[in-house]
Amino acid sequence: MKQAEVWQHLDKETIKTRVFSALEKNLPLREGNVMGIPGSNLDPRVFYQDAPFLKDAPFLSSMILNPNHIGCHTFSEESEPFFAGTQEIEREVLDICSRDILNGEKDAIDGYVASGGTEANIQAAWIYRNYFQQEMGAKAEEIAILCSADNHYSAAKAANVLNIRFFRIAVDDNSRKIDQNDLQRVLEKAQSEGVRFVVVIANMMTTMFGSVDRTSDYTIELKKRAIPYFIHVDGAYGGFVYPFTGESTDLDFSNPEVSSITLDAHKMVQAPYGTGVFLIRKGWMKYVRSSEASYVKGLDATLIGSRSGANAVAIWMILTTYGPIGWQDKIRRLCKRADRIAAALQERGISFFQEKGSNIITIRSGQLSEEIIHRFHLVPDDHEHPKWHKIVVMEHVDDAMADLFIASL
Ligand SMILES: Cc1ncc(COP(=O)(O)O)c(C=O)c1O
Repeated sequence: MKQAEVWQHLDKETIKTRVFSALEKNLPLREGNVMGIPGSNLDPRVFYQDAPFLKDAPFLSSMILNPNHIGCHTFSEESEPFFAGTQEIEREVLDICSRDILNGEKDAIDGYVASGGTEANIQAAWIYRNYFQQEMGAKAEEIAILCSADNHYSAAKAANVLNIRFFRIAVDDNSRKIDQNDLQRVLEKAQSEGVRFVVVIANMMTTMFGSVDRTSDYTIELKKRAIPYFIHVDGAYGGFVYPFTGESTDLDFSNPEVSSITLDAHKMVQAPYGTGVFLIRKGWMKYVRSSEASYVKGLDATLIGSRSGANAVAIWMILTTYGPIGWQDKIRRLCKRADRIAAALQERGISFFQEKGSNIITIRSGQLSEEIIHRFHLVPDDHEHPKWHKIVVMEHVDDAMADLFIASL
């Protein structure tokens, strides 16, 4: 990992002071005579605002004060002034992710804290669909999302919501790499059916296998066929893992082929649900900026609309509690534990897939007893017809649990 530019480890007191001072910079609704917005603090009859522990609880205090981060706050123009303090914290989260984790340049990336990976993936496809329609005169049926068979189903959802086409490419059953022959076959078919523009969703760790694509898996063939394309990276699972494993990847902003990236803090970062992160190079958000949102200062360019500023605070608190070195240590510790489980499987001749450096291990069906699968709650690729079951070494999968699993094999 390169030297961090924004991301620092902070002690508890500094984190607390910083969050409370951000909350103070938000306009106090009562004392500030705020009469015009359809939102307020959480209802005090239900969510006690005078509980003494709240003065030591910056995240819960943020929840109670309930800032609305509607809109995108990385543009140079003004956003809603009511919540300027916590918007600043959100910008810092986006800076940490885009610059210190994903190798972007300073002031080069727009983004926002989305509801999750699904929204962030749809947001990307929405932007590129509108670009193709507005700038290239494309019809919806001439635009397609292209991704691997191992891609998360949010790509199919995006195509469905946006009324564009959807094509999946087969992967090799052992390596989980994109099958180049199938890519050619699918592109041939798509083009013969009138597809002229493509949105690629490439994976930095797939949901089921933790497998990682390379942009060239797609770009060589797309260039050969002169098909205009964008590459969006789905790092919803892997964005907070893979860059810390020491493995090399071209799925970040140092690669000009990559236009946008999804991360998700409510997976490996253990943030509350509602902490997806959408990041995109500057210049593209305008394709979804709603001039109809005229009552929102700075307008709105997000899929979600109103969203809790407390979510950005939660991500910021977790990332600064660890700092870059602490985070790398944590990820490597979990990956080492995964390697230990993988070595035990290998010793016993049990067939599995594990991307190098990954903390996901995916075991072929028929090799573990049903009892083990149920006892350890392994998740299948398909509940009706399982071919694989996965282990995800999250923080709660500790050494004792790993030992118990190994001993039961
Ligand atoms: C790779 C990947 N992308 C997207 C998503 C969707 O994320 P969410 O459930 O936060 O919408 C997931 C969820 O598991 C995922 O693993």
